[in-house]
Amino acid sequence: MLHKPSLPSETTAAGRSRPHDSATKHVAGAALYVDDVPEPAGTLHVVPVGSKIAAGRILVMDLEAVRAAPGVVAVLTAADVPGRNDVSPVDFDCDPCLAEESIEFHSQVVFAVVGRSREQARRAAALARIEYSETIPVVTVDEALDQDVVVMPDYAFAQGEPDEALDGAANRLHGSIRIGGQEHFYLEGQVVLAVPGEDSDMYVLSSTQHPTEVQHVVARVLGVADHAVECEVRRMGGGFGGKESQASQWAALAALAARVTGRPCKLRLDRDDDMAMTGKRHDFLVNYDVGFDEDGVITGYDVLYAARCGYSADLSLGICDRTMFHADNAYFLGDARIATRRMKTNTVSNTAFRGFGGPQGMMGMERAIDAIAWTLGLDPLDVRKANFYAGGRDRTPYGQTVEDNILLELVETLEASADYRERRRRIAAFNDNSAILKKGIALTPVKFGISFTLIQLNQAGALVHVYSDGSVHLNHGGTEMGQGLYMKVAQVTADVFGIDVSAVKITATTTAKVPNTSPTAASSGTDLNGQAARAAALAIRDRMAAVAANEFGVAAESIAFEGGRVVAGGRSLSFGELAKMAVQARVSLSATGFYKTPKIHWDRAAGLGRPFLYFAYGASCSEVTIDTLTGEMKVDRVDILHDVGRSLNPAIDIGQIEGGFVQGMGWLTTEELVFDAQGRLRTHAPSTYKIPTAGDVPEDFRVALFERQNREETVGRSKAVGEPPLMLAISVFCAIADAIHSLAPGARVSLDAPATPEEILKSIKAAMRAS
Ligand code: MTE
Ligand code: MOS
Repeated sequence: MLHKPSLPSETTAAGRSRPHDSATKHVAGAALYVDDVPEPAGTLHVVPVGSKIAAGRILVMDLEAVRAAPGVVAVLTAADVPGRNDVSPVDFDCDPCLAEESIEFHSQVVFAVVGRSREQARRAAALARIEYSETIPVVTVDEALDQDVVVMPDYAFAQGEPDEALDGAANRLHGSIRIGGQEHFYLEGQVVLAVPGEDSDMYVLSSTQHPTEVQHVVARVLGVADHAVECEVRRMGGGFGGKESQASQWAALAALAARVTGRPCKLRLDRDDDMAMTGKRHDFLVNYDVGFDEDGVITGYDVLYAARCGYSADLSLGICDRTMFHADNAYFLGDARIATRRMKTNTVSNTAFRGFGGPQGMMGMERAIDAIAWTLGLDPLDVRKANFYAGGRDRTPYGQTVEDNILLELVETLEASADYRERRRRIAAFNDNSAILKKGIALTPVKFGISFTLIQLNQAGALVHVYSDGSVHLNHGGTEMGQGLYMKVAQVTADVFGIDVSAVKITATTTAKVPNTSPTAASSGTDLNGQAARAAALAIRDRMAAVAANEFGVAAESIAFEGGRVVAGGRSLSFGELAKMAVQARVSLSATGFYKTPKIHWDRAAGLGRPFLYFAYGASCSEVTIDTLTGEMKVDRVDILHDVGRSLNPAIDIGQIEGGFVQGMGWLTTEELVFDAQGRLRTHAPSTYKIPTAGDVPEDFRVALFERQNREETVGRSKAVGEPPLMLAISVFCAIADAIHSLAPGARVSLDAPATPEEILKSIKAAMRAS
């Protein structure tokens, strides 16, 4: 690793590399996940059971044998739902918690067994007798396009006169690319424990990115007020977007079981069920039409993204919108139309996944750029650079001006440090002398918009207490899924008080402490919750300063909090001594903090606004080798330069960059979802679905931070880091295409994602035919 962490000062917590607060506990097995928390006496286990067909109706559901089976305490169907049978995250659609009559996808939950043990419940489930009337399912994007079925209206925005620009273009080409979906494969699957309390109270310990939504959905399904439900989350073993909206159904089922039986109920999805019953990254078909001049500069663009949304809307509105916001990636498009169709299929409802549609948007654009380069015989990097946003060419197709553009400097820095030009020459020479193995290289940029595009979500709250010994209790609305949010917010809080981060107690997220929160998503966890926690801590610090000012007869503004001490005039006392003094003086040492992102607005009907506070940038250069006989591929070297503003914690940020990149590599190379014609997911276990392992991490992997403070007033002038690095992996995909292109220099490569060995071979064959 090239990065040298910068140490602003020995006494500040933020800006320094610190291990994840639970790092040691993670590896020692001492970190408590939902399934590790001791079960309350009498806990029962819930097993949801999925439909055996993908489309049709339930004619008969005979569950008598299930009810009579050993260990079965209850069997739940839609008829048992006291409130509304809907776990959808949006109010314009419905996702039944338990299927009513109509079946929309294979493995849709039709009933659930509540048993004394999971094994007994599973065995009992097999005794169900269900008769269906089956219709032919719509499975693929193409089938949905043929039948013209959508989950919501088409949406497009445009700038200028794209049709005229394309007609008048010096060069013009049409192309398409298919981009596969992705299973989240969080190591901890969906899991929840629901404990009934007095009256209609329900405590829900969930593995969710969105405790507030779990609270609200549980209340809705049980037909009780939100105040009756508390949702707590200490940590997730990964979420990656898969627990943003889709933890709710399991929480609702467990809570329903707890209500019906009066006992604590746990639901832990079996891995195969988790893969079949929960949504994935949307797969897309992209068709583009691009006009360009002799230098490869784009002069007109028209693109249509068709997404497989699955049977319902879920978060597809925001996801496909984000695809559109990233259809330009780093490039000024001028006259452009960006359109999306949100196709309805009889498959599980697709959902958030790291990048939230943005990665698919960028993939379409990067393919168009490569196609231009292949057509003109230019180096793709030169075409990329010629199209970057720049002065006078800084308006996005959705009307936001790119004010914080660092693309060219960042990319040229990486181009030099990765030795791109020289390696391109060496690779060309290698390919001339190598019959079977071919190498490729690509350097691709990332520009990712930061803020939720649903403006109301850009808010956060925090609750901070200082105890009389000077120790601090920190709580906020963000959830921890391994990304290091808790640590970063603790660092920010510690700095306000000038104390060591070890004096700040990180506590579990709960709807009872901070209400009405947004999901931890859109990479905004630190931006939002860091500012809210800072606001709460500042409120308390001001009160403490007033106490010291009064005691020592100095101005409150002159009091310094640093190194665990408070310095007031000539006097110095420990932070704890001042805390005690404040309590004795009857001053409250507890405060809430609130933050909402400034400057952003979005008019969706007009397709205009400033949906993002700022952009996070990055670039990566990947070199690969492919075997033209087998289609095997190896990533030889990766260089990354990524922009996190002024890093709050370089170690955690680099971890996010490495992890995001490798997860993106999996998406684009090995992870392939296969649904059969009956709508059954055939890749529902690690045996058939290949995520990257330690062995797939590039051996030569050089990650550096582009050290530059955020020009916007974010917490510590940092930038969000959770999602953007995933899209750095597009350089691996483009490098594979580059290697294939070396076989047929005049031809346009047709390579779809994921670039599995089969796909690479197919693409090689097509390229050879075309040359
Ligand atoms: N990192 C880890 N280790 N585990 C995760 O589940 N989720 C990603 C990213 N990094 C994830 C992760 C996703 S999808 C998002 S939106 C962000 O983290 C959310 O956290 P943040 O907003 O605090 O960055
Ligand atoms: Mo991340 S896909 O916004 O949870």
